Amino acid sequence: MIAGNWKMHKTVSEAVSLAKDLGPRVEGLEKVEVALCPPATALWAVGQALAGSSVALGAQDVFWADQGAFTGMISPVMLKEIGCKYVIIGHSERRGRFGKPDESLSEEAGRVFGDTDASVNLKVKAALAHDLVPIMCVGETLGERDGGVTDEIIAEQVARDLSGLSAAQVAGMVIAYEPVWAIGTGRACEAAEANRVIGQIRQAVEHGFGKQAGASIRVQYGGSVTDKNAHELLSRPEIDGALVGGASLDASRFSLIVQAASVIAREVSK
Ligand code: PGA
Repeated sequence: MIAGNWKMHKTVSEAVSLAKDLGPRVEGLEKVEVALCPPATALWAVGQALAGSSVALGAQDVFWADQGAFTGMISPVMLKEIGCKYVIIGHSERRGRFGKPDESLSEEAGRVFGDTDASVNLKVKAALAHDLVPIMCVGETLGERDGGVTDEIIAEQVARDLSGLSAAQVAGMVIAYEPVWAIGTGRACEAAEANRVIGQIRQAVEHGFGKQAGASIRVQYGGSVTDKNAHELLSRPEIDGALVGGASLDASRFSLIVQAASVIAREVSK
């Protein structure tokens, strides 16, 4: 499964042109699911542009309450009504775990969105309660990797963020392994290492929710995925797809990634 995270890019008109350019390029490709996650302002319009196509719509975040006095927030009910299937939850840019901290910001300002394992857990539960599929992001910072605690950090995030869910709920989810140091840096994680960590994520899921959930959950890799490295990453057995940032803003590059996924998935299913 390949998802494009457009982050805070594209006005409504720009988003619609990108979706219209992309749709036909990936239409009909077998064994791969595609989702586009535009900014909230463009969700409705992109959903309309994708109507009738096989490309799914996803949001980049969601709040956990259905409605109420929560200025600026968007509820799962609202996302569902406009046709979202997926929602990214707990992206490191929202957890305040930036790969490239803006030196001009104080640490407090850098944590402006403030997502934590506890809020990610509430958001995942709310999304599932409204039949949205969470794309839940986990990943270690450079400091944590250098400190040799990657596996512990990942296991902890998986356990906390999925706490209280049923095995059936977890089985239908998507997790994106996104090492914070690889996001937007042009420095993707090596395929063998991404494959290894994703194996760990699957084990953590199995440990908490059983074999079936571990086998069914789809785990993507994210962080500087391009049309150049997609084949190498996606051909690893544990990697079920990619969450693509920068390269998803270019219809031609993104469709090459989707094509690579389709070719590999077809080979595997032979
Ligand atoms: P990137 O972003 O592909 O631009 O590194 C990935 C992500 O943040 O999901």
